[in-house]
Amino acid sequence: PKDVGILGMEMYFPRRCISQTDLEVFDGVPSGKYTIGLGQKYMVFTDDREDINTFALNAVSSLMKKYNIDPKSIGRIDVGTETIIDKAKSVKTVLMQLFEEAGNSDIEGVDNINACYGSTAAIFNAINWVESSSWDGRNAIVFTGDIAIYAEGSARPSGGAGACAILIGPNAPLVFEPIHGTFMSHTYDFFKPNLSSEYPVVDGPLSITTYLTALDNAYARYCEKYNKRAALTNGHANGTNGYTNGVNGHSEPAKASLSGFDYMVYHSPYGKLVQKSHGRIMYNDFVANPSAPEFSSIENPEAFLAVPRAKSYSDKNIEKTFISLSKGHYAKHVEPGMQCAQHCGNMYTASLYGGLASLIATVPPETLQGKRIAMFAFGSGCASSYWAIKVKGDTTEIRTKMNLLARLESIKVVPCEEFVGALKIREQNHNAAPYAPTGSIENLWPGSYYLDSIDDKFRRKYAVT
Ligand code: ACO
Repeated sequence: PKDVGILGMEMYFPRRCISQTDLEVFDGVPSGKYTIGLGQKYMVFTDDREDINTFALNAVSSLMKKYNIDPKSIGRIDVGTETIIDKAKSVKTVLMQLFEEAGNSDIEGVDNINACYGSTAAIFNAINWVESSSWDGRNAIVFTGDIAIYAEGSARPSGGAGACAILIGPNAPLVFEPIHGTFMSHTYDFFKPNLSSEYPVVDGPLSITTYLTALDNAYARYCEKYNKRAALTNGHANGTNGYTNGVNGHSEPAKASLSGFDYMVYHSPYGKLVQKSHGRIMYNDFVANPSAPEFSSIENPEAFLAVPRAKSYSDKNIEKTFISLSKGHYAKHVEPGMQCAQHCGNMYTASLYGGLASLIATVPPETLQGKRIAMFAFGSGCASSYWAIKVKGDTTEIRTKMNLLARLESIKVVPCEEFVGALKIREQNHNAAPYAPTGSIENLWPGSYYLDSIDDKFRRKYAVT
């Protein structure tokens, strides 16, 4: 199969959100702490009527409806999530209900778990399957999503929720390029060891350093592999080895750097970290090639180059200089992918793909055609990858069917008391069985799946509004 990648996409998110400006007042913190300090605008939330299974049923059933997918045409489903319910029983098995009536139980793939990285593990699995010798000619679906909530405290405003369903197959408009730069390590920055709570154990400052260390290393491995491959093909991409020169868009440069990409999507825990990350990539390009013309405005470059890498993560001067240098570039090349992050907050595994969906929704298809999109996936713990997607085809269908911007706009802004109340209900009833949810179904989108009840054996029953 040729040009394996994304054929279709659908986003799902809860119907209610709070404004981060309101939350600053509600929490009694200085104005600007969440909106400027974290770069957040809104944060969606849900109560006990939704769980990861309803997110999955909603996103995947809507994808299938909008693209008129024959259930028998799906041969693989990979799930990426860290919102765990039945632990040993995967979310994927819940999705099998959507294929039962058509008699399709021959669907490979289960859940992938590692904080926000599970989605990327899932999507790499699906792509690899289509490209493998065990491919049976059918398409794959990736479902990814999470309910991102934190205990009261400084992490709470960096929560959110959301999900994404992705149709994967050959001859796709969005093609995954073959080079991945990956960085994984053993880190206790964010994990969920306490099964009696939905909340993670999080070391905020360590999670930020872990994220930026992963970004540096994944990008460095990507550049190394890219440059080696480009050198092998005479310093430029010549259409072999999985590369093709962009006909009406960006052709692959001889050497990897930020200027070789048209758009960048970063996993977004909160907006400010994405701005820092973009500055950080520019800093990496500067260290690799300080005399490049784009860095001519940097005064005293030797002083920056003298800072050891380990110290550079906490160096505010480096951070400020490169955020400021990359500001205009960010507005043009990164900001168009921030719509979901701004409206929904952190969607954990779905955050990166919500970013891609935002880009498709924001940039006109004729502009996007032929372009290269850099992707940075990160999950605490930690797992990360840097790679690129090439827009080979028309994104009009995905954009139209998703109708993302209008749907994001229609999320209802409610008082912060509702947010805190919803989290309290979840907190108090986590692991309860039997259980009858008390949240109003009026707060859900019409026609969506919701949690009806949990019986005394912890089995969940779902219904549709
Ligand atoms: N106006 C403007 N800016 C402000 C204000 C204000 N009134 N008050 C604080 N700030 C700025 C700070 O100066 C700081 O800026 P900096 O990042 O440039 O240094 C920023 O807001 C954050 O404030 P802090 O006091 O440093 O941190 P805080 O206690 O608010 O916690 C944190 C932030 C650590 C991100 C917390 O929300 C958290 O733990 N979140 C969950 C973990 C997370 O998302 N990690 C990211 C990667 S891992 C993942 O994806 C889950």
